[in-house]
Amino acid sequence: MANTTLMMIKPDGIENGHIGNILEKVTSSGFKIKALKLTQLTLADAEHFYAVHNERPFFGELVAFMTRGPIVAAILEKDNAVSDFRALIGATNPAEAAEGTIRKLYATSMGENAVHGSDSDENAAIEAAFHFATRERF
Ligand code: CMP
Repeated sequence: MANTTLMMIKPDGIENGHIGNILEKVTSSGFKIKALKLTQLTLADAEHFYAVHNERPFFGELVAFMTRGPIVAAILEKDNAVSDFRALIGATNPAEAAEGTIRKLYATSMGENAVHGSDSDENAAIEAAFHFATRERF
């Protein structure tokens, strides 16, 4: 069944000039773009978005990174969108990501790993609502 996931191209992906490459990889892999924007997270936004990680030692580094420049947020639709998109982006650590995955191609480190993908259908809905108003979804 067609369902959706939430993607972010993280600040490193944008700084390194990979917006076009990543969107091409996403659409050529069968995902339809249902919503899309260039935006920048505030500190409060990033702390809220990553609240599940707030006890982790890397939390401060993570929110500083995610707020240092613009991101691209998108809602993507495909059969099995959450699991297929996580397969397309590859392991969190690009050194462990499979050949051809977005993180293998475009990420530089565990922290600066180019893209985010929702980890469940429930979180995909929560994250989509965080980024997009109803009138921004198609
Ligand atoms: P993501 O899985 O998209 O969301 C949580 C993020 O936390 C993860 O990507 C990484 O960017 C970051 N992260 C996870 N583990 C570490 C770590 N050990 N050191 C730094 N950042 C991390």
